[in-house]
Amino acid sequence: MTFASRMSRVTVSPTLRVAAEADRLRRSGVNVVDLGAGEPDFGTPEHVKDAAHAALNANFTKYTPSAGVLELRDAIAQHYLPLYGVAIKPENVIATAGAKQALYNAAMVLFERGDEVITHSPFWPTIVDQIKLADATPVIVQTHREDGFAIKAQAIIDAITPKTKAIIVNSPCNPTGALISEGEMAAIADAAAARGIWVIADVTYERLIYDPVPHNLVKILFDRMRDRTVICSATSKTYAMTGWRCGWAIGPKEFIGQCNVIQGHSTSNINSITQKAGIAALTGPQDGVAVMLNEYRQRRDAVHGWLTADPRFQCVKPSGAFYLFPYVADLLSPAGIKTTGELAEAMLTEVAVAITPGEGFDAPGFFRLSYATSIERLREGVDRMFAFVAALEKSGKIPAAANR
Ligand SMILES: Cc1ncc(COP(=O)(O)O)c(C=O)c1O
Repeated sequence: MTFASRMSRVTVSPTLRVAAEADRLRRSGVNVVDLGAGEPDFGTPEHVKDAAHAALNANFTKYTPSAGVLELRDAIAQHYLPLYGVAIKPENVIATAGAKQALYNAAMVLFERGDEVITHSPFWPTIVDQIKLADATPVIVQTHREDGFAIKAQAIIDAITPKTKAIIVNSPCNPTGALISEGEMAAIADAAAARGIWVIADVTYERLIYDPVPHNLVKILFDRMRDRTVICSATSKTYAMTGWRCGWAIGPKEFIGQCNVIQGHSTSNINSITQKAGIAALTGPQDGVAVMLNEYRQRRDAVHGWLTADPRFQCVKPSGAFYLFPYVADLLSPAGIKTTGELAEAMLTEVAVAITPGEGFDAPGFFRLSYATSIERLREGVDRMFAFVAALEKSGKIPAAANR
């Protein structure tokens, strides 16, 4: 069959591929420890579910304006005032099916053939594939584990050419969990503002920050270049609402209008019931967020400690999101397991642990471990991983760890 050429430029999301295989095994009765999932293991808060029930019972089940009801757009706008000290109007907001559609709308509205769009690696593959779907060219700036995957403004600025249309920053970052510093963000914003380049900030994990790191990207961007800033986020990770599909883009009124055109011709409004749930999440009690944050922090600290007890798992402790991103080149060898793709496959088959290989994040030699699962399952997962590594060692495929 022949498909449009754009289909040859994109790939199946590797995160979804692992999830599908783990799911297949689980359904066949295998006790899989799933460290691949990119979503919270917590339930959606009760008051959010209650709002959805109420919406259903009140027959709030019809089309809404394609940008979302005013009450939701207002709730999103109001949400940002205490968080970042910025005033946003509903006309600057469109409600989208998760942050993914917010980013997709932005790509469709802003990018075209001949444009270059700068982003950083290791990256969440959707960001790069959406650039390609919009016929533009991704320009990738590498970040390094040696400095905690910090995004360096100068490296981004050095990648700017006359063709640069936008810079996409993802912070906290999936898969590394790294945050961009405010100083680096300001330097990028100054450079972008001076050249008329858009900055798109994917802050989907904005409420999942564990250390006291200043992270007011929104204000930094608004103060410098509000007319070319797009903020993309969602209730997905913060409120354990991945399946509801409630996200948003915030940007200049004219830009939001264009997003509305794209959305009006593709998906229209997000689910009406979800909109009521989103309003409840954003305007209702917020204590559940702190509870989840605390739990994630404890898990991060525990798993990081367990994993790095073996020096073959070289891993920075990230400040945000819910992923660890260890470097495990010492587990790979030409005669044994060659890539982390093969490693993930072998771990799933042999010890039923699902991880996500680094290749899909443009990071060979790494894998992503999600700690959005219970501490007991995490312990079990790490134990199984270590048993797997011990077996590799015994088979002579890798040397013994130096100082275990
Ligand atoms: C960096 C990043 N941005 C956006 C998204 C999309 O989030 P949503 O489920 O709200 O579409 C994800 C989901 O994993 C993500 O990791």
